[in-house]
Amino acid sequence: MRFLLDREDITVSVVGLGYVGSCVAVSLADNGVDVVGVDVDASLIEEMEAGRCRLKEPGLPELVAKGRGSGRLRVTTDFAAISDTDVVVIAVGTPVQEDGTLVETQVESAATEIGLHLRAGQVVIFKSTVPPGTTRALVAPLLEGGGLTCGEDFGLAFCPERLSQGSALAEIRRLPVVVGGWDERSGAAAERFWRAGLGVETVPCSSIEAAETVKLLNNWWIDHNIALANELARYCAAIGVDAMEVIAATNEVPKGKGNINVLSPGVGVGGSCLTKDPWMLWRSARERGVDLSTVVTAREANEAMPGYVAGLIVDGLAALGTPADRSRVAVLGLSFKNNTGDLRSTPTLPVVSALREAGADVALFDPLADPDEIRKEFGVEPSSGVEGAASGADCLAVLAWHDEFAELDMAALRALTAPGCLFLDGRAHFDEQTVESLTGLGFTYRGIGR
Ligand SMILES: NC(=O)c1ccc[n+]([C@@H]2O[C@H](COP(=O)([O-])OP(=O)(O)OC[C@H]3O[C@@H](n4cnc5c(N)ncnc54)[C@H](O)[C@@H]3O)[C@@H](O)[C@H]2O)c1
Repeated sequence: MRFLLDREDITVSVVGLGYVGSCVAVSLADNGVDVVGVDVDASLIEEMEAGRCRLKEPGLPELVAKGRGSGRLRVTTDFAAISDTDVVVIAVGTPVQEDGTLVETQVESAATEIGLHLRAGQVVIFKSTVPPGTTRALVAPLLEGGGLTCGEDFGLAFCPERLSQGSALAEIRRLPVVVGGWDERSGAAAERFWRAGLGVETVPCSSIEAAETVKLLNNWWIDHNIALANELARYCAAIGVDAMEVIAATNEVPKGKGNINVLSPGVGVGGSCLTKDPWMLWRSARERGVDLSTVVTAREANEAMPGYVAGLIVDGLAALGTPADRSRVAVLGLSFKNNTGDLRSTPTLPVVSALREAGADVALFDPLADPDEIRKEFGVEPSSGVEGAASGADCLAVLAWHDEFAELDMAALRALTAPGCLFLDGRAHFDEQTVESLTGLGFTYRGIGR
């Protein structure tokens, strides 16, 4: 059996239309591929059918509407739809328990259903992040449940996803895709698919397990690198050196095949991946008698940041003569990183909780986050505008910096706040000029590691 994909007009089904699945589906549809998205969440399918999208990713709602309008993007809860497609992409969620063990429910049910509808000649591409070995030991046997044989009747490849919130749609058409095939034919078919469907380069791996490990190494590295930046920032603050200057200079230095690339310090690490994938890796290693102490160390360093940032605010207020329990703090930006409204595991929540515990009156504003989600996560009514939040504030705490904040009239905001208002730069990483202009307006600037 020769797997399809040597034709121009390939069709694709994407199973799991969460963050990853919907970005992949709309990007393929926008490139002219016929896509059918399948999800068990009927309300999500209803919304997408109507051309709407609940996810806040920039450009995603527009591409959902465009895909529905052009007819290139169909959505359904019915798994039978996958039978008509050449490629089946799986992007269901893979949460972990406290101890890092994979919660297999979504993968298990999706692979079982797909197995019942697979037909000979199809290629299945698994994108969910999993402990190495999962594709071979769990997914492949379930896909074979309908009677077909993996590698003979259908192809299988693991292709990890690298996109990140805020720039997902650009990244999906730019970043190379790592491909680990069940066998050579599966790998080659998956490579052809990504090159033709999204116009991206591919990075072949010699096994599925290597490709699965690539994804975990990616997030291990990012979490670790951020931990390094965060600890550097705490150290620089203690010796009176600007951490951003140190990082910028260090990153100029060639090392190996590229430059040293230390990331930036911030409020902490959140989102759905960096908070779980390192533990998934740690658990998988432990089951084989390997102790990955760097995973634990990096997680601890990053998890300590919200408390550190709350401390910076409380100390900064005290230095200005305002005890925390008589202060008003306006938090601008609540998401877990810049330019997204995603509140999943956001480290801004423990900062806000610590400030409240210290007695501060905390106002919240994030133009990208859904007000209902803010209410649910933070338990308070968000301000509808930045002015309302900033009014009478002793501290403006920018915990996530969105591009649209650059339009803010800082002089007007300063006029609304208390005199000498503390400006806590949690993620804006302002350059020297901007810091000077904020200081010139009468703000007292403090940044992480600055
Ligand atoms: N979010 C990211 O930035 C990101 C980046 C890289 C990799 N990943 C990985 O990609 C995978 C998907 O992540 P996500 O953020 O899109 O998850 P998500 O939770 O946003 O979406 C998962 C979707 O799968 C659906 N689903 C659950 N069970 C199903 C089933 N049996 N059949 C069909 N659909 C089903 C859910 O209804 C949901 O819509 C995870 O493994 C994640 O670790 C995520």
